[in-house]
Amino acid sequence: MSGAAARPRGGRADRGPHADEDVAGLAARQVAARLLAAVVDAKTPLDALTDAEHGHPQFRALPPRDRSLVRAILATALRHRVTIGRLIARRLDRPLPPNARSLEHILHVAAAQMLFLDVPDRAAVDIAVAHAKADPRTVRFAGLVNAVLRALGRVKERALPAELKANDDAPDWFSARLRSAYGAERAAAILAAHRAEPPTDFTVKSDPEGWAQRFGGIVLPTGSVRVARLPGPVQEMPGYAEGEWWVQDAAAALPARLLGDVRGLSVADLCAAPGGKTAQLAVGGARVTAIDLSRSRLRRLSANLDRLKLAAEVVEADLLAYQPPVLFDAVLLDAPCSSTGTVRRHPDVPWTKGPGDIAKLAGLQRRLLERAVGMVKPGGLVVFSNCSLDPEEGEVLHAAFLSSAPGAVADPIRADEVAGIAAFLTAEGTLRTTPADLAGETAALSGMDGFYAARFRRAI
Ligand SMILES: C[S@@+](CC[C@H](N)C(=O)[O-])C[C@H]1O[C@@H](n2cnc3c(N)ncnc32)[C@H](O)[C@@H]1O
Repeated sequence: MSGAAARPRGGRADRGPHADEDVAGLAARQVAARLLAAVVDAKTPLDALTDAEHGHPQFRALPPRDRSLVRAILATALRHRVTIGRLIARRLDRPLPPNARSLEHILHVAAAQMLFLDVPDRAAVDIAVAHAKADPRTVRFAGLVNAVLRALGRVKERALPAELKANDDAPDWFSARLRSAYGAERAAAILAAHRAEPPTDFTVKSDPEGWAQRFGGIVLPTGSVRVARLPGPVQEMPGYAEGEWWVQDAAAALPARLLGDVRGLSVADLCAAPGGKTAQLAVGGARVTAIDLSRSRLRRLSANLDRLKLAAEVVEADLLAYQPPVLFDAVLLDAPCSSTGTVRRHPDVPWTKGPGDIAKLAGLQRRLLERAVGMVKPGGLVVFSNCSLDPEEGEVLHAAFLSSAPGAVADPIRADEVAGIAAFLTAEGTLRTTPADLAGETAALSGMDGFYAARFRRAI
């Protein structure tokens, strides 16, 4: 494809006296490009950058509407990073030099708006040009930005669908790993699910049908309530202030239920924050001890429990060193993982994590699992779970753990234990979900996070 007008121009574009202040919407795009750089180049998780309290100071300084726009731009730019990159590359005469990172981010931020968001091309291009002019690193490329984006606007109706078909919008390491774990067909279905905006799931204390009706949603076979598109902020939905429900993906709601009837039992929720599973165990009638390393995440857990009018003992501790004063009746370990099962909600994950992280996290999970088994009474149940799609953190770890006789035996999960889980059980009696599972009536009502769960019983 031609990139006729897309060569860097020699002449300096005029910066103008107040370029960054004068153009409406520029500040939001500047923050979007900065955060995109932090994700892609410095491998910083997007959640950390856009956190309302601890996020990037420039993000927090934006008014709420701009913050929503930045979030939308970044989710789109990451979800479709390969497509956007290829459509831009085709409009260049030669690849951007490796030191032109700021220029690349400006182009990606603008293209994300033009291709996928409700921003008129003209506005997106004009702001991108002003953006380039306002930054000394990119001022000489303002002409190129203008030419590339205008060329993209002219062909996008035809070029976008073709490009979406031609690639899977994932970095090579990630799609290769999915293919080797799930085969070509299932991997393709998972990657296709990663391109779509996911629905929102709720765990309700009671009356799922009633809440589904109130929210205009559905009740899933597993009991979660699902809404395709939220009408506004969750905090403004009925029942939030009263603590009648919490947001929790349908797959994330399964592991706690694998402990069965927990009424009156002492249950440790290990790696508990922000507390979705603690809440489930507390609603189920357990005496819960919620343990986590992170003080700030535990603060969120406590606030969540307060809103839900639920109680748990909260312990801030490193589980690799912590020894409880008495053993628990049952233990749930929802271990830190690569989070590759949550790419629909966290499209930065394949761009910030890699095979090395998976190996490291699998090692940590193994050590945490050994600790978890040591915290339960002989004969007691341990459920291990995580939100990774990678077998190294799931099926492979399970087999290796059992074969090295760590004082625990497998306790296979049965299909009749929890409604709607039969389709997710493996031959070994473990649970595996993926974003390609749980096909609903429409794409907007389909999918679930990728989760793995296995159950053990401490040897007597
Ligand atoms: C996947 S998140 C847990 C999600 C939580 N179970 C829920 O359902 O809301 C993993 C948690 O593990 C915690 N964590 C990581 N390493 C830890 C360690 N060595 N000791 C205790 N907690 C740890 C992190 O702080 C994080 O909150």
